[in-house]
Amino acid sequence: MKIALASDHGGYALKEEIKKLLQEQQVDFRDFGTNSVDSVDYPDYALPVAEAVSQGEYDRGILLCGTGIGISIAANKVPGIRAALCSDPFSAKASREHNDANILVLGGRVLGPGLAREIVQVWLTTRFEGGRHVNRLNKIRAIEEKYCRERKNE
Ligand code: RB5
Repeated sequence: MKIALASDHGGYALKEEIKKLLQEQQVDFRDFGTNSVDSVDYPDYALPVAEAVSQGEYDRGILLCGTGIGISIAANKVPGIRAALCSDPFSAKASREHNDANILVLGGRVLGPGLAREIVQVWLTTRFEGGRHVNRLNKIRAIEEKYCRERKNE
């Protein structure tokens, strides 16, 4: 599995922890930045990861900002992205089983490294259940298509 990873300055320290975990687990990843705690704008880091996942260049993504909120809002604007902001392993597992989340979002100022590692581990190893959830994801896709069509016609 290939993972695209990025954060803003608020998620930078936790991103570095997550990189250690991915290395330990021998998960292939690319770090799209940021590379320090200098202030940056989270949409600039959400976009390349969300596009890379949406275009199939990476299987899944992991994004971090201070709360995880801004970067998840930005990532979810990209068609095909289902970015799930998770602060506990139960939600992380459900985001894979029920929502087929293709980006995991973490709050660097919310989570300690131990809990964040548990969340990432369960998220990486849980499969989408399919079944009744497929129809719901199709309805999300229909919403995207409706608004993409309207924008094209503007
Ligand atoms: C940056 O200060 C902070 O606003 C950002 O990391 C994030 O929490 C936004 O949602």
